Amino acid sequence: MTTRTALVTGASRGIGAATAVQLARRGVDLVINYRDKQARAEAVAEQVRGLGRRALTARADLTDADAVGSMIESTVSAYGRLDLLILNASGGLERDVAEDYARRLNRDAQVRLAELAADRMTDGGRIVFVTSHEAHFYSDGSTLPVYAPVAASKQAGERALLDREAAFAARGVSLVVVSGDLIDGTITAKLLDRARPGLIEERRDRAGYLPSIEDFADAVAGAALATDPDKIIFVGTVDQGTPAG
Ligand SMILES: NC(=O)c1ccc[n+]([C@@H]2O[C@H](COP(=O)([O-])OP(=O)(O)OC[C@H]3O[C@@H](n4cnc5c(N)ncnc54)[C@H](OP(=O)(O)O)[C@@H]3O)[C@@H](O)[C@H]2O)c1
Repeated sequence: MTTRTALVTGASRGIGAATAVQLARRGVDLVINYRDKQARAEAVAEQVRGLGRRALTARADLTDADAVGSMIESTVSAYGRLDLLILNASGGLERDVAEDYARRLNRDAQVRLAELAADRMTDGGRIVFVTSHEAHFYSDGSTLPVYAPVAASKQAGERALLDREAAFAARGVSLVVVSGDLIDGTITAKLLDRARPGLIEERRDRAGYLPSIEDFADAVAGAALATDPDKIIFVGTVDQGTPAG
């Protein structure tokens, strides 16, 4: 059987890195995208190679259209095919970013990358958009103020991608959304807990448990490879007022 290839955005750490490793365990060759942290991306690529799969690293800030175009072209020219696109990278909590950065990254850049990739993906390919319950269910005032621009822009990104589902399908590419509760052990969860001390424990108590990075990555990799997955997959408890990353 032909080996499938996946491009995972934001795979230098956290959920993206764990997803890349989970896909490698399931026999997929990888492109590890990152923005800045080359050494971390290389370490993830080494882990993938240690599992017997091929791995390339690709530096590209997803808000840079030229860099994204080159990343797609070099993926296709290196592997000859692109089967899976995992839209994991996300941002907006960083210090010193422009006011519209969250929207540019979490909506505009996701749509641009998905459209570019869908044009080059194999028939039967799949795009997985990774999001949080907090973004999926976002409505004004329903989240921490510091997370509101991220939640609003990720929700807008999800909706913009779902609006294009028929166009992706016409190219033989399916779309799945995977939404997670607050994920234990992530930097994002720690940043939010710093903004609202006690948040992680409160959420753990209310939800019953918090998924780990491995739990979430397992669901994302599973969604990428499943034959007939649900269109939206929820990981962790879903309820009213989920303070998640
Ligand atoms: N953390 C949670 O509790 C939680 C809960 C539910 C859903 N999620 C979702 O899971 C995904 C990953 O979250 P995470 O917490 O693992 O994220 P994270 O730790 O903040 O990692 C972000 C990754 O994205 C990359 N990145 C950031 N900005 C980028 C850009 N402009 N262009 C390209 N790459 C960029 C980073 O690369 P560098 O390291 O090179 O900067 C890094 O690899 C997100 O979609 C998030 O919404 C997270």
